[in-house]
Amino acid sequence: MTTTKALVDTGVERLRALGFETPRLDAELLLAYAIGVDRTAVVANGQAPVGPGAEATYLAILERRAAGEPVAYIRGIKEFHGIALTVDRRALIPRPETEHVVDLVLAEVMTQLTARASVYAAAPFRIADVGTGSGAIAIALAVALRKRRVPADEVAIDAVDISPDALDLARENAVGHGVGDRVSFAVADLFPVGAPDPWDVVAANLPYVRSDAMASLPTPTTFEPAQALDGGPDGLAVIARLLDMLPRHLAATGAAFVEIGADQGEAIVALVGERLPGWTCAVETDLAGLPRTAVLRRGSA
Ligand SMILES: C[S@@+](CC[C@H](N)C(=O)[O-])C[C@H]1O[C@@H](n2cnc3c(N)ncnc32)[C@H](O)[C@@H]1O
Repeated sequence: MTTTKALVDTGVERLRALGFETPRLDAELLLAYAIGVDRTAVVANGQAPVGPGAEATYLAILERRAAGEPVAYIRGIKEFHGIALTVDRRALIPRPETEHVVDLVLAEVMTQLTARASVYAAAPFRIADVGTGSGAIAIALAVALRKRRVPADEVAIDAVDISPDALDLARENAVGHGVGDRVSFAVADLFPVGAPDPWDVVAANLPYVRSDAMASLPTPTTFEPAQALDGGPDGLAVIARLLDMLPRHLAATGAAFVEIGADQGEAIVALVGERLPGWTCAVETDLAGLPRTAVLRRGSA
């Protein structure tokens, strides 16, 4: 019977020959998935025997990986902001940089909640996650607020997506994390038609890849829905429409947190100046120092 180490080595060799960036990590994750254990168990037990069933599964999914399919889609899971989300081809695989959006939004929500005159305010604090995909931002926020013991009826989170399939996945994730009572779902083009009150916070990770760059995206990205990535000719077409809708949908004291591409820092400031005169736009950088999140507020004038 073969061992975990031998199978990992086979995978590393196969993926390295194809130029993959993280062949060992990928091979370990795939073998752990095939056996049904944590990756750490594979790493720590190199001489453990692997049965023929698990070996066959591993070799089959290794070929899927070799064809470019993302590890997250093969495993059906992606870790995001400390939770494990179910992922499949219905929605984008959440990216680590989006965790920064969650952190910024969470800080804003806690600041605004604390500043409220009473925790027993008549209306709940309202958050919209526009372009929710797998539900990553909305669900990570709901889980984080529950951890901070914020009552479910004090903060309402609306998760919106134009894709009904993505929204189904987001719903499944919300139920899976026990926050189905904290998050509502709506299929809509940006904001739901006839939405009653403005939102206190808007979080949005919308498509921002330029259309002409779509064809040269790395192979794993081609497994993801184009609608989740294609941001039009300049990459900012969907975001520009969101900006146009903010005056109506964002509360007077609200803030919008919009994820952007690492090369779009100057472009978003210019766009906000053009579309939302008098508003402020601060561009927050990620841990690598790259512009990643635009924070928009109405000016004080
Ligand atoms: C980059 S993905 C982000 C998904 C998720 N927020 C995340 O961070 O993993 C963009 C999402 O926006 C959705 N989307 C694209 N255009 C939209 C629109 N006009 N209105 C609402 N959602 C839209 C896509 O279906 C996709 O789920």
